[in-house]
Amino acid sequence: MSVLEEVDVPLSAEGEACSLDSYLVLPDNSMDERIAAARRALGKTTILLGHHYQRDEVIRFADFTGDSYKLSKAAAETDANYILFCGVHFMAESADILAHEGQQVILPDLNAGCSMADMAEIGQVEECWETLLDAGVSESEILPLTYMNSAAAIKAFCGERGGLVCTSSNARKAFEWAFARAKKILFLPDQHLGRNTGHAMGIPLNEMVVYDPWQIGGGITPERLRAAKVVLWKGHCSVHQRFLPEHVDKVRAKYPGIQVIVHPECRLEVCEKADAMGSTEGLIRIVREAPQGSSFAIGTEIHLVNRLAKEFAPQGKKIVTLDDTGCLCTTMYRISPQHLAWALENLVEGRVVNRIQVRDDVKYWARAALDRMLEIRA
Ligand code: 13P
Ligand code: SF4
Repeated sequence: MSVLEEVDVPLSAEGEACSLDSYLVLPDNSMDERIAAARRALGKTTILLGHHYQRDEVIRFADFTGDSYKLSKAAAETDANYILFCGVHFMAESADILAHEGQQVILPDLNAGCSMADMAEIGQVEECWETLLDAGVSESEILPLTYMNSAAAIKAFCGERGGLVCTSSNARKAFEWAFARAKKILFLPDQHLGRNTGHAMGIPLNEMVVYDPWQIGGGITPERLRAAKVVLWKGHCSVHQRFLPEHVDKVRAKYPGIQVIVHPECRLEVCEKADAMGSTEGLIRIVREAPQGSSFAIGTEIHLVNRLAKEFAPQGKKIVTLDDTGCLCTTMYRISPQHLAWALENLVEGRVVNRIQVRDDVKYWARAALDRMLEIRA
């Protein structure tokens, strides 16, 4: 008996699993048994990777959870035939680039993108590079470095020009790696992560300029482009950019003694006021290693903050969100239990839905950029 029979999945007249729409009308909790049964049936053929911003109803099924560095490493190391990525598009693309021959990567909802990654398109990046060269910057003095939150074509662009990918957990190492080889860095697409990293390394703010892809010549003079040590792309995360320095003051006034910890996608003014910065994995580590009774205001996506609040309450650790309106990543949220059940049950029936496949010509150089990132580690 197949798992589909066992869990009573409605089949269409042709014997094919019903469309996604038939799952979307069902309640979340009715998916639990079906997801669990499909996972059992698929066994070791399938690994389920879950980013920390996923909903509780989804992440609880993950074999492996992590920040984007840890998950890309897991994708590179697994022998499973199918990598089901509960995260966003750029993460699944990176998994496909790092996967072995024959492995297939699935993203349960293809609409799970990242608004920051969408702020840089390959055509704009090529134009920016030309602008830099026209300004008199030579290729030997600058390296392009892209945040993991970018399209595969941009990773390939960086790889082909000797640059690399970084995540929020190894941005500083990536900057150091690049500065050991070149005088300047083009960093994209997150201006905040780039500025925070440069600032922490002691690079003066006036040596970091912002290139705006929507303005002629990036909206910046050739003289300033030539003089800059870091050229930052004008991109940001709409979730993290909402945190403001006033939120830090307010939460400290409300909870005396509270520690403020934030993701480096937050603005410099927020990071400077915070007690510590970290990737999602780094933030979790800070909370886990803190003594009983500690309290934290966390500046990151609300699902992770709420999960930590629940998990650490029994140890007397108080956790609140930095901004009490709570910031949701709507694209991460798109991966619902219904999408997960749909993807898994199709897999049980031998159908791969929503496969993420990066073109071979893009893969080659994108892999070079990702391999360099894995070499410098987190
Ligand atoms: P992490 O690598 O820290 O998990 O960050 C990914 C991300 O998209 C944060 O917005
Ligand atoms: Fe992208 Fe921001 Fe969502 Fe992270 S939190 S996936 S950067 S939109």
